[in-house]
Amino acid sequence: YQPCYILSVETSCDETAVAVIKDGKEVLSNVVASQIESHKAFGGVVPEVASRKHVETITLMLEEAVTASGISMQDLSAIAVTQGPGLVGALLVGVVAATSLALALSKPLIGTHHIAGHIYANALVADIKYPCMALVVSGGHTELVHIPREGHFEVIGRTRDDAVGEAYDKVARAIGFPYPGGPYVDRLAMASEESIDLPRSWLEPNSYDFSFSGLKSAVLNVVNQRKMRGEPPMEGAIARGFQESVVEVLVTKAIRAVKAYEVKQLLLCGGVAANRGIRAELTRVCEQEGIELLIPPFEYCTDNGAMIGAAAYLKWKHQQFNDLDMKASPQLSL
Ligand code: KG4
Ligand code: ZN
Repeated sequence: YQPCYILSVETSCDETAVAVIKDGKEVLSNVVASQIESHKAFGGVVPEVASRKHVETITLMLEEAVTASGISMQDLSAIAVTQGPGLVGALLVGVVAATSLALALSKPLIGTHHIAGHIYANALVADIKYPCMALVVSGGHTELVHIPREGHFEVIGRTRDDAVGEAYDKVARAIGFPYPGGPYVDRLAMASEESIDLPRSWLEPNSYDFSFSGLKSAVLNVVNQRKMRGEPPMEGAIARGFQESVVEVLVTKAIRAVKAYEVKQLLLCGGVAANRGIRAELTRVCEQEGIELLIPPFEYCTDNGAMIGAAAYLKWKHQQFNDLDMKASPQLSL
């Protein structure tokens, strides 16, 4: 038996992250340098700033991840990296670092899809059974993905406008929180006794698609009206009303998809999977309906290298490698 050690790099957005994973499951090291402080002043991720920060940090993160893993560079089995989707300049830094390392060490290169990474974050802590359904909720994505067998993806629903994390961040900004505001809105919503009524966007009766821009606008209207009338802002009630609307739509559509596709498990993943409202309600409904639910621990929900290593391991098993001239692919499809 030859153990498989994968070094995995993630730089698709605003985290410079590197991990070393043994046999697709055991996390030997997982280091993340967040750029949040660099983007805060701008109220969101500035692509040019992101690329520069990745360039500054990537070498240090690679060294830290390898040192912390206790494995030498020579013992690595493969180098994996997020190929896309994401910000092109940000992806490029990871791709160049990974291909250079693969070339210098004569190791195979594995390009990974960012969303496959989020989905397979669940494989780090549980056994995935097929067919399954994934609810992917992040700053850039909101998707329902049917997975008939390992490594095969069929996107059955997606957002038609804002991603759910994006909606959280915009609502957070309107009620006075810094970027990224999702966790603040979550905390406020969970702490509030009151809730205001906000719309739910269901789209066509059979659609698995999502839309959050109407809800976001409704929140902005309430915030502005209260301001104009000099009424107390009621941030807690607004946060709670917003979260209730988001959670109800996400949970209802996910459960409907689980039943329609007769899958064995539901997987929650992506940065917004850290949301306590979503975790609690999905857990409650899945228990009630007898559906097996997987949710990654908090540290594997937001962008990280370990999840990329977990997804890369599937390709490793089939010895599916990329050429060293692999390009970053900002629009890569699943
Ligand atoms: O997966 P991720 O790290 O990056 C993307 O691939 O987009 O997700 C980041 C997003 C941000 O929009 C952030 O506000 C949101 O996840 N987020 C949350 C929570 N924690 C992170 N949204 C709601 N509630 C949370 N607790
Ligand atoms: Zn992500």
